[in-house]
Amino acid sequence: MEREDMEELVFCYDPSSGLRAIIAIHNTALGPALGGCRCWSYTSEEEAIRDAIKLAKGMTYKNAMAGLPYGGGKAVIWDIAEASGKIQAGSGTSDQDDEQDQAGVGMNLPDEGGLGRHDQGAHPGVGANLPDEGRHSGNAMDVRALRFRALGRCLERLNGRFVTGLDLGTTASDMDQIRVETAYVTDTTGSLGAKDDFTADMTAYGVYIGIVTSLCHQGAAALQGISVAVQGLGKVGYALCRYLHAAGARLIVADVVPERVQRALVQFSGAISADPARIHAADCKVFAPCALGGVITPATAEELRCSIVAGAANNQLHGGQLVARRMQARGILYAPDYVLNAGGIISTACELQGAGPDLIRQKVAGIAGTLGKVYAEAARSGISTLEAADRLAEAILSTGQATQ
Ligand code: NAI
Repeated sequence: MEREDMEELVFCYDPSSGLRAIIAIHNTALGPALGGCRCWSYTSEEEAIRDAIKLAKGMTYKNAMAGLPYGGGKAVIWDIAEASGKIQAGSGTSDQDDEQDQAGVGMNLPDEGGLGRHDQGAHPGVGANLPDEGRHSGNAMDVRALRFRALGRCLERLNGRFVTGLDLGTTASDMDQIRVETAYVTDTTGSLGAKDDFTADMTAYGVYIGIVTSLCHQGAAALQGISVAVQGLGKVGYALCRYLHAAGARLIVADVVPERVQRALVQFSGAISADPARIHAADCKVFAPCALGGVITPATAEELRCSIVAGAANNQLHGGQLVARRMQARGILYAPDYVLNAGGIISTACELQGAGPDLIRQKVAGIAGTLGKVYAEAARSGISTLEAADRLAEAILSTGQATQ
């Protein structure tokens, strides 16, 4: 905790539902910690703790640079794949039943463990511990729902120091369950944030704005005719292609799912496809990683033929500052991922404060100014753009005042 400068780690264990979660609050200098609730199959408690800390710290920097009056935090739930059964109020089952339930869990993928798998066996012997609703109605209560309610009670006890929302492996229905217990949750059913397309669209819009800003920084006046290689045609990558195509960019696209590539080739005239494993080496002006993290390694950094790397994927650099400096030495401008992909969290924060879609879009466009400051600081101090972003974020945190 000391090494990562963590404020608080909260362990949430609820024996009646089986919830095991960690709430990591990294820094609240700018306001309550804001970060998603991730549901993942970790191999150990230590792994879950490490992930929670890393993600919470990342949110501190992202929120600071986005000018938001929020600190950084993350909630992490693990082993949720077990939550595929129902708790039958008042029913106790044998150890043998328990073993059968566990055996039926299958892969611990978050989606698999999600709301689509409610029809498996009963959870053993927990009826006496059910919350009022389950106990009184006598109805089967969904284990997953109970776990999110238990998490909601943990959040309530934190009294607003941490506000959570959607992340990998969680759904708006999960957030609805948290909301039963506490107001410190967003992305519930009906909210803008729960509309996947809206959040991803805002993330893509921020990346688009960042690409335009980066081109300007290198003296290009417009996107017309500029080649952009987009790796990953999921929610964000596809939306980014839409913005780029509308602005006249020449698209090079790749995805490991061939249907997504086909759809893009049909939709965006002039687009060509590339090998997903080699698209980083495409002959293009901009490389936009929008799939997985870690795509720029010391080896792939040498293969880049673009002059700008600007994409949505989190943790793009496998090798951190070392790789950032190597790109700088090769004359490649790197738009730090956490600055560029803040559109989603800006959208969440703005919605919490009552803003609608138009104002949110306006705020996301502010990524241009933030990125401009990063590039100016890097040039002024002769450091990489990643070092510059970290330095600016830390300066904001030291003032304790959000910049917008
Ligand atoms: P997604 O899951 O909808 O799309 C990812 C796409 O990448 C999929 O189409 C997948 O088939 C493809 N893909 C996976 N491995 C690949 C590979 N090796 N080469 C090429 N394509 C590959 O995810 P989404 O929401 O579009 O997010 C994309 C990235 O942006 C992720 O890294 C995510 O963490 C990051 N991000 C997303 C935000 C959001 O609002 N959705 C916000 C901030 C960051």
